[in-house]
Amino acid sequence: MTTTAVRATHALDVPAIRRDFPILETIINGHRLVYLDNAATSQKPRQMIDALVAYYTSQNANIHRAAHTLAATATERYEATRQKLARFIGAPSPEEIIFTRNTTEAVNLVASSWGLANVHAGDAIVMTQAEHHSNLVPWQRVAEATGATLTYLPIDDGGMLDLNAAHALIGPRTRVVAITHMSNVLGTIAPIAEIVRITREKAPGAIVVVDGAQSAPHLPIDVAALGCDFFAISAHKMLGPTGVGALWGRRDLLEAMPPFLSGGSMVGHVTFESTTWAPIPQRFEAGTPNIADVIAFGASIDYLDALGMDAVRHHEREITAYALATLRARHPALTFYATDDTNVRGGVVAFNVRNVHPHDVSELLDGRGIAIRAGQHCAHPLHTVLGAVATCRASFYIYNLSEEVDALSEGLAEVEKVFARAIARPQA
Ligand code: ALA
Repeated sequence: MTTTAVRATHALDVPAIRRDFPILETIINGHRLVYLDNAATSQKPRQMIDALVAYYTSQNANIHRAAHTLAATATERYEATRQKLARFIGAPSPEEIIFTRNTTEAVNLVASSWGLANVHAGDAIVMTQAEHHSNLVPWQRVAEATGATLTYLPIDDGGMLDLNAAHALIGPRTRVVAITHMSNVLGTIAPIAEIVRITREKAPGAIVVVDGAQSAPHLPIDVAALGCDFFAISAHKMLGPTGVGALWGRRDLLEAMPPFLSGGSMVGHVTFESTTWAPIPQRFEAGTPNIADVIAFGASIDYLDALGMDAVRHHEREITAYALATLRARHPALTFYATDDTNVRGGVVAFNVRNVHPHDVSELLDGRGIAIRAGQHCAHPLHTVLGAVATCRASFYIYNLSEEVDALSEGLAEVEKVFARAIARPQA
């Protein structure tokens, strides 16, 4: 097969995809929306919105309780999403998928349930300097409650995890290795399988918890191949609704864990004196869950499945390479914080314009209908390491076009004009 054929096989039909996303027609400040804030949340295809409306219009009932037809249908559709998600991330069984509100809640579940039961004074919790607060703060709290210590694996100048440091810092006292799969600031992809290998060798009793919030929407995921113990995601970053996330965990670990939240739905039998727990996954889904959004999330997974995650990844590599090449060539006043190598990074691009605050950059771009994020992106410690008060962040997805990168570049040219005097000064 020729390179051209391979490329053709992997190409997304972006104009057709865009027709499925009504919001992309929106006019912002007199301009067609250029949405480059996908790391914060993705836009939603009509198919997902229709599934949500259909549920409330004709399928609404509570699940896992009543014997009537509507309840049975709702239960079936809710459980169908669990099956789709298990297949989508390579989980051995749907029973190992727990629905949560988001990645943050999924990590809190592991930290509270496994962490508080298994981490002890003198143990070490190992994270990276690139963690989003969602995979950092819950572990700080476990350390505070148990007397464990916190260790952060450094990143190098290209924003990549330093594997030598991982070899040196993961050791017999390590009980938890909590690591982001793709940085929400740098876009760099951590070598999870290698980290798992090091952890199994140096710290056989430790668990590896992966924050997959930024990777699951953009890379083919196979948790079995990664070899980790827990993998957390958010639906809203992968074309799904807000308010739904999921935790995948290894069955033996989940089955040994105490409940996180307790009450209805998660019990075996309750007496006035005591309670037995339901088997997984129900043990970890207390109360009426977010039925509508879980069902709608199923439509998002179908959508990504139909595109194929290899094709999604291919498109994002192309647009990221184009963005980095274009911005570097046309804007010498820009600083970037990660490697350009798209073999090891995704479509999240952090940058700064010399001596211009990211909020000013974002505001001028917004005037042209261009949405980026400016700030510390829920990664304060990482910004300390980068030596940046804040960063601008453009992040891409399946519906972004190279013309939108050009629009970003034109917007940055305006920023350079408005702030010419500040930019001409040496770096503050
Ligand atoms: N975690 C999201 C972000 O990085 C909100 O923007």
